[in-house]
Amino acid sequence: MRIVKPDAEGLRRAVEVLRAESVVAFPTETVYGLGANAFSAKAVGEIYRLKNRPSWNPLIVHVANVAAARDLAETWPDTANELAAQFWPGPLTLVVPRARHLTGVGAGNDTIAIRIPAHEVALRLLEASGLALAAPSANRSESISPTTAEHVLRSLPDVPLVLDGGPASWGIESTVLDLTGAIPRLLRPGALPLRALRDVAGSIDLPDEGPSDGAVRSSPGMSRRHYAPRATLVLVKDVRDVERDPSVGVLTYETADVEGAEILSADPREYAADLYAALHRLDDAGVAKIVVQEPPQTEDWLAVRDRLSRAAAQ
Ligand code: TXA
Ligand code: MG
Repeated sequence: MRIVKPDAEGLRRAVEVLRAESVVAFPTETVYGLGANAFSAKAVGEIYRLKNRPSWNPLIVHVANVAAARDLAETWPDTANELAAQFWPGPLTLVVPRARHLTGVGAGNDTIAIRIPAHEVALRLLEASGLALAAPSANRSESISPTTAEHVLRSLPDVPLVLDGGPASWGIESTVLDLTGAIPRLLRPGALPLRALRDVAGSIDLPDEGPSDGAVRSSPGMSRRHYAPRATLVLVKDVRDVERDPSVGVLTYETADVEGAEILSADPREYAADLYAALHRLDDAGVAKIVVQEPPQTEDWLAVRDRLSRAAAQ
């Protein structure tokens, strides 16, 4: 079995695989990550190969504590200290100038993205291995992030080992914040809401909403099509107007009552927690098209709207 319980034996096996410069999928509070020793070019190369990830897209490095994070940074801004004190361990990734001794994970950038995950299994793995773990979401490039161990194997059947930590509690990726400029800049909306960030970091520069593939790609992974199910995803104002057909799946939330639809919560955090699992279920049902009720235009729904609009991009 490649899906293993995260008990002492499971962790021992995972550490062994990591020390042998291979990769291990592990749970975090956001989504499952595909982890490798951040200082091993061989192991990091294995991440890119398994995911079919373009080499220009840099990786997030996961560490067990703030001292380990600072060690990967050339400079550590005061704002990073304040944000780390408030939100780590947790679903916030900080982009800071990269320490020169760390190569390979940054895809040639002079910055590095770092976070301390808030999942007991992830923290135990970091501590038991003594490694900094580069870990993107454990899915094929451009497809839906995994929120369970089974999702990982379905997307990446060749992963040698998956630590099973149950369903991810946030179910959506971390918020990525760039601290290399004068004002913190949002690179990817995610689990941690902007409101919480502003309380600590003050004002935050926002990217224009909606997918774009401009020449300047500040967060390289934010390409237009991403997070996509196999089926074609279409966003609509009202799913009740959609003509029903067995090849069409419908995803909505509590306000619209549609027979046979996947109905998620009208609370943005609960909706996000179930979104990827619902898209996986619709894909498993074999529908050719998924029609999704557009979520509200409010800031609380920013991360969900971002993922849905990318999933819908052709
Ligand atoms: O919640 C998460 O962040 C999950 C879990 C496993 O930690 N990881 C994750 O990794 O979503 P990934 O690789 O799927 O997405 C990382 C995002 C990408 O958009 C990538 O381009 C961006 O972070 N990123 C990584 N390093 C960066 C850097 N140095 N500068 C700017 N963006 C960076
Ligand atoms: Mg990803």
